[in-house]
Amino acid sequence: MTRTPSAHAVSQYATTTGNLTARIALHTYGTNPQDWFSWLDERLPLAGDVLEVGAGTGKLWNHVDHVTRGLSLTLTDFSPAMCEQLRTIPDARVQQCDATDLPFPDASYDTVVANHMLYHLDDPAAALREFARVLRPGGRLAIATNGSDHLDELNAIGPAIGRPELALGARQNDFTAEAGPTYVARYFTAVAVERYPCSLDIPTVEPILAYLDSMADDPLTPPQRSAAHDFVQTEIDANGSYRIRKHTVLITASR
Ligand SMILES: C[S@@+](CC[C@H](N)C(=O)[O-])C[C@H]1O[C@@H](n2cnc3c(N)ncnc32)[C@H](O)[C@@H]1O
Repeated sequence: MTRTPSAHAVSQYATTTGNLTARIALHTYGTNPQDWFSWLDERLPLAGDVLEVGAGTGKLWNHVDHVTRGLSLTLTDFSPAMCEQLRTIPDARVQQCDATDLPFPDASYDTVVANHMLYHLDDPAAALREFARVLRPGGRLAIATNGSDHLDELNAIGPAIGRPELALGARQNDFTAEAGPTYVARYFTAVAVERYPCSLDIPTVEPILAYLDSMADDPLTPPQRSAAHDFVQTEIDANGSYRIRKHTVLITASR
């Protein structure tokens, strides 16, 4: 039976931070010397009362010093496991809730951030309407999402070893870098898109196997693991590393 994007998100994130942490680890092999969160830090339109939706482990706030900047920060996630981790971030209010049903009054935030989370929803437009509702007039929205060719070389491994559901496209909605700006323009003005220039250059097989493990609700069987190992090792032997394209964008807009 085909699962909805939100059913995938529940199985991936509801009870553990481990899958997200394993996947963030793969991005330490990025070719851009400026890591993603620092790049974001230079571009996020942060001011006043800031809400991050689907904040995960709160990694962004290891890079952005909200306290020194005088921001009032609210962090949310639907996952109890993520919220427990978010409660370790200093001077942040944490609220467990779904992005499509925010327990905040109308016009109560100056900035809403939704990084790499809208593609997990069954109805991303419902979340965008909530973001518009809780933002003050003139408030700013910042969304990170991926292009449809994001991690193509990584997504090729699952189908090659008989596990097609490990490919990202099999588990996410159409809120991509290509379609996302049109979604956002339904509810916001001044929509702008900037791409983070980066790919992954991975010299060994193990980080890729760890990534596949993090995606697999049913563990890889020994033959599948061996096939994945050989698939990646053949490429490393030929080219010195396993190169994976990234396609990540920051979409900003105004209320
Ligand atoms: C790929 S992670 C990104 C986490 C974080 N924003 C980051 O960039 O590191 C997606 C996050 O969205 C959360 N999430 C998924 N569906 C959600 C929903 N409907 N409402 C709120 N959070 C959700 C997950 O629990 C997870 O923490």
